[in-house]
Amino acid sequence: MTLFASLLLSLTICGSIGIKLIGHRYEDVYIVIQNTVAEDPEIIDNIKETFTTASSLLFKATHRRVYFGKINIVIPKEWTNIPNTKQIPSIKLPNFILVDKGQNENPFVKSTECGKEGLYMYLHPSFLLKKGETGYGRKDKVIVHEWGHLRWGLFSEYHSSRKNKFYLDKGRWKPTVCTENIQGRIGIGKFCSTVEEKCQPQNGERRMPSNCNFCPYREQTTNVSIMGYQFVESVNFFCDKDDTSVPVWQRHNHKAPTKQNLLCNGKSAWEVMREHSDFKNGNTPLPDNTNTDPEFVVLKETNAIRVFVLDISGSMNTEDRIGHLYRTSTYIVDSVLPLDSWLGVVCFDEKSKITAQMTKISSDSVRKTLIQSLPSQTAGGTCIGCGITEAINMLNSTFGTAENAEIILMSDGQDGDAGMLASATRLASESHVIIHTVSISQAADPRMIDLAKNSGGKIYTYLDKGSISFAAVFSQVISFSVTEMSAQPETMLFMSVSVPNSAMNFAFKMETDSGLNTTITVLTKLASNAKLTMEVTGPGSTNFKTVDGTSLTYQIPGVLKVNVTSSQATTWDYTVSSMPTGSNQIKSRTRLSQNSFDFNGAPTDMPVVYADITKGYAPVTGVDVFAIVEGAKGLLCNLSLTDDGLGPDQILDDGTYSAFILPVCMENNRLNLRVRISGSKGRARVQIGGSGAIATEEPDITYEDLEDDFQRFSIPEPLFVQNLPNNLNLPPGRITDLSIVHMKTRKTAYGESRNFTIAWTATGGDMNMGKASAYDIRIAEDIDTILNNFTNAQKFEVGNVTLSPKPSGSAEAIRISVNAVESYTGTAFLGIVAIDENQKAGQVSNVVSFLVAKGFRIQVEEVAYYTHGLFDGKTDEVDGMDKKTVNQQPSLVANVLIVFCLVAMLSV
Ligand SMILES: *[C@@H]1O[C@H](CO)[C@@H](O)[C@H](O)[C@H]1NC(C)=O
Ligand SMILES: *[C@@H]1O[C@H](CO)[C@@H](O)[C@H](O)[C@H]1NC(C)=O
Ligand SMILES: *[C@@H]1O[C@H](CO)[C@@H](O)[C@H](O)[C@H]1NC(C)=O
Ligand SMILES: *[C@@H]1O[C@H](CO)[C@@H](O)[C@H](O)[C@H]1NC(C)=O
Ligand SMILES: *[C@@H]1O[C@H](CO)[C@@H](O)[C@H](O)[C@H]1NC(C)=O
Ligand SMILES: *[C@@H]1O[C@H](CO)[C@@H](O)[C@H](O)[C@H]1NC(C)=O
Ligand SMILES: *[C@@H]1O[C@H](CO)[C@@H](O)[C@H](O)[C@H]1NC(C)=O
Ligand SMILES: *[C@@H]1O[C@H](CO)[C@@H](O)[C@H](O)[C@H]1NC(C)=O
Repeated sequence: MTLFASLLLSLTICGSIGIKLIGHRYEDVYIVIQNTVAEDPEIIDNIKETFTTASSLLFKATHRRVYFGKINIVIPKEWTNIPNTKQIPSIKLPNFILVDKGQNENPFVKSTECGKEGLYMYLHPSFLLKKGETGYGRKDKVIVHEWGHLRWGLFSEYHSSRKNKFYLDKGRWKPTVCTENIQGRIGIGKFCSTVEEKCQPQNGERRMPSNCNFCPYREQTTNVSIMGYQFVESVNFFCDKDDTSVPVWQRHNHKAPTKQNLLCNGKSAWEVMREHSDFKNGNTPLPDNTNTDPEFVVLKETNAIRVFVLDISGSMNTEDRIGHLYRTSTYIVDSVLPLDSWLGVVCFDEKSKITAQMTKISSDSVRKTLIQSLPSQTAGGTCIGCGITEAINMLNSTFGTAENAEIILMSDGQDGDAGMLASATRLASESHVIIHTVSISQAADPRMIDLAKNSGGKIYTYLDKGSISFAAVFSQVISFSVTEMSAQPETMLFMSVSVPNSAMNFAFKMETDSGLNTTITVLTKLASNAKLTMEVTGPGSTNFKTVDGTSLTYQIPGVLKVNVTSSQATTWDYTVSSMPTGSNQIKSRTRLSQNSFDFNGAPTDMPVVYADITKGYAPVTGVDVFAIVEGAKGLLCNLSLTDDGLGPDQILDDGTYSAFILPVCMENNRLNLRVRISGSKGRARVQIGGSGAIATEEPDITYEDLEDDFQRFSIPEPLFVQNLPNNLNLPPGRITDLSIVHMKTRKTAYGESRNFTIAWTATGGDMNMGKASAYDIRIAEDIDTILNNFTNAQKFEVGNVTLSPKPSGSAEAIRISVNAVESYTGTAFLGIVAIDENQKAGQVSNVVSFLVAKGFRIQVEEVAYYTHGLFDGKTDEVDGMDKKTVNQQPSLVANVLIVFCLVAMLSV
């Protein structure tokens, strides 16, 4: 496995593509305007103005360390009146800023994980076109706030959900913010204009009603937490560590249940930033008078330039790979490559040959000519380097450069000419060509991955035995223009059927607003002379019949049934894809947390598969998502991906569905994933508003119901597994939603007695799979003992209550009572850990805390019946009186001898 050494190296250095920090300047920042936005030179002017002021603020906020150096603005082809534009072919970006007219107007970043770069920053044209201040505050502040999400993987420093807008600390409710210095009003309504008794911060014995808000004053003196309320005019800095090394004004509040605390383990913005490569190497401050004005370049994408570099070595005869490649590439040239794009074809065995010079696809007859250059015969050995070098030379001699042209490399073998491969790798990097690779079978040379990743290209695998269709994999590497994201085809279905048959049928669902231009493609495998008859039955018994064809275009929504017969028995490969014709289509995108996973070096995290499902950039919730994991011999696992905010899923209802890929679903070498997404009318819905930058006015969340069922199939890049152990005992998962759902307080002759119900969602015995075998609940007088020294905290007595964990995902709850006779003196923090049958413990949950009296007694009363939402809206009970009665005598709380106070606080 020495080949894998080079593979791993390149997977870790692929940060060279995308936004770069050179010295103190960010270069290669791309702002991409989508073609759904009407041509308007003012958008360009406003981008320049906004990012120039944002650059200066970024410089100030990072204590003079970084600013925007060079910004490329990419405009759509349709924009024709913008002067001084530079033309370049295909732009490939791992992350960027995009301007589009989605359903959400608020700026936001699609985040990944704490400390990792986000996928994109979204800006609506109305935000850029607004003169002066926006509903989210000054534009430069919004940009720097979003930059914190996009570049450094910071999360927001306000409440992570409506349930935790406030947290209890020292007996009082405090707003969920990074700095305690921030001033504002507490009340009801968008501007907290109605001040209500029930929103009293001193009512510590009840939870704060969920309609009470905190509205910071726009004008005040607080200067930190740009990741919090960025619209506060004086806020210019990021929070830093909560200790004496940091001035008091900048200290981070690690107790508040902000997303930043929840997802970054209580770390402040600066603690996360200092671990990022931008600041890790002690980037020293620049002088105050540094010119931070960025340079702007306006770019326009020209038609894509591609070269197919195809392996025709002897091994391509295995399983009729060459025949399959021929039929699939014929389909791609015929139906997938866009009109007016360029194509050249190079074939290689131990040497290389150009079979088609660079040709502009200007008509159907040009397509037919190009198809004749596709290979169908094999010969000789494998020299990948020869093919790449030939392609680059052809590009250079046609266009004078190979920069930003795309090479699509397909091979199934080990390269036999290391010298040639090394020199081709150098040439590729010098000429800035983009190389996408499709590895055919597990035997394909892993060094192809180096080539692709170092050039910013995509990597895919086609396994002869899997259910993933070659046509779908091939289509995946044909990318569309970055300014035409809404026009990218969506795949509804694909399948590779390996049981030979002379008839086959399948059905799929097509939603009304995307089914406008659907292509059904059926290809045969291992049967090169088969003649096909295809019959499509749509709603109202519509019948379409093609004889002796392999592909047809269908344009009616609904459930479609396809019957295909063949003149000879064959295995099959079919795909159904659709070209969206409007801009607010349901889009799916799948990705992995990493492309390679090595069990040597004791990894702590498991790889995660994600599916992002959006409609006009707004999340689609309530969708069924499954990922099929396949290895050399076929199916390994069927995973369910969820958007429940538990386990690997960071945020509830954000349209990102996720699942761990656990060792039981793995084998060494390449794993392919096929993700099936299906939404049904009535259950799936689009959530509009409620995400993104916080506005001065709390936005309303609205829901759009879908008019139809829909389905999608998607293929993320493959996962490379190494050193998979025979048996691995994984620890249980982490509980992240421990909370107090109900409180009941009674004054007794001795002091006070309080009962409350704490609830959480069960995790599993192996991460979030199966069932844990015990819970370890502990309390301590300081939060850091719970977070960092859990096993030394005091064990929670559960008496004779049997607390046996339910299966992962089940609702769990216990009712506990606390009794004390003395007045309040300290704080108790409570955390929970799941333990498996081998006594292996998971990570400590989020923390709930109580302010308690000296000598308090705490005990578990019972395992409580609980289902999600059972206590929602239920008010807490105090001495049998309802809330209103208590609120009419606000002095009551202050006057009684407070035996203990309870802090319902969600910390990390
Ligand atoms: C931020 O505000 C505090 C007072 O609230 C002040 O002491 C401090 O100097 C300010 N920091 C900067 C960098 O202006
Ligand atoms: C491209 O061709 C020119 C001459 O036509 C040559 O000078 C240059 O080195 C070539 N570049 C590459 C990357 O081969
Ligand atoms: C559908 O596709 C066909 C063939 O690609 C094309 O001619 C036609 O214009 C498309 N129709 C729409 C509505 O985009
Ligand atoms: C399609 O095939 C199925 C199963 O072979 C068959 O039951 C059905 O009648 C066929 N439909 C048509 C329209 O031929
Ligand atoms: C995966 O599991 C789901 C739910 O149990 C099921 O509907 C689906 O058919 C399964 N897929 C495969 C390929 O087994
Ligand atoms: C708490 O529960 C215990 C036992 O179930 C009960 O005796 C006590 O009265 C309860 N206290 C309150 C405040 O409800
Ligand atoms: C953990 O707790 C033990 C016992 O209270 C104490 O001796 C030890 O110093 C603590 N360790 C840390 C890292 O705080
Ligand atoms: C144990 O449980 C029983 C009911 O099953 C209860 O009556 C008893 O008080 C409990 N004992 C303790 C110490 O909690």
